[in-house]
Amino acid sequence: MPCAKRSWAVVLSALGLTGCSGLGLAPSPQPVEPAPTDDMALLASRSGCLACHALAAGKPGPNALPPIGPSWPEVALRYREEAVGERRQELIDRLTRAVQDGTNPYASRWNGQISGLAMPPNAVAISPKDTRRLIDWILRSPHP
Ligand code: HEC
Repeated sequence: MPCAKRSWAVVLSALGLTGCSGLGLAPSPQPVEPAPTDDMALLASRSGCLACHALAAGKPGPNALPPIGPSWPEVALRYREEAVGERRQELIDRLTRAVQDGTNPYASRWNGQISGLAMPPNAVAISPKDTRRLIDWILRSPHP
């Protein structure tokens, strides 16, 4: 990029400013994102998932109740058999739909293990594509 257009050069020289350096014409610095320690954890956090889900198993929920939603390792453990082989894509599709559209409080899959009644729809917070990436990652959470 040339350092100044001709018309600028005229204005600048009229102001007694010449040359390229120190004129504040450099593009302003880009805002710097904090270095993510883990892209997927950051995506989960930004999408609001971590208000209800923990990245590690065994954490209590608010007011010493069970956690609001199942932790990711519990999800990975529960679906470990479906998560391998041909059924994996189907499982990812189903869980992506659950996250996007929300779950039915009368058909909880986690009854008795959590304090939340149902998951609200998250489609306003995260795209289907990012949800799929997140689910894929969730299913890889280390579990017993
Ligand atoms: C307001 C609380 C809340 C938020 C926010 C939330 N969830 Fe949930 N989630 C739940 C609850 C409660 C359940 C258990 C649903 C049930 O009982 O079947 C659940 C279940 C799940 C399950 C398991 C579904 C199943 O069929 O077993 C996955 C995977 C999941 N959530 C992922 C996510 C992701 C990814 C996000 C963020 C984009 C998210 N959740 C945001 C509360 C939440």
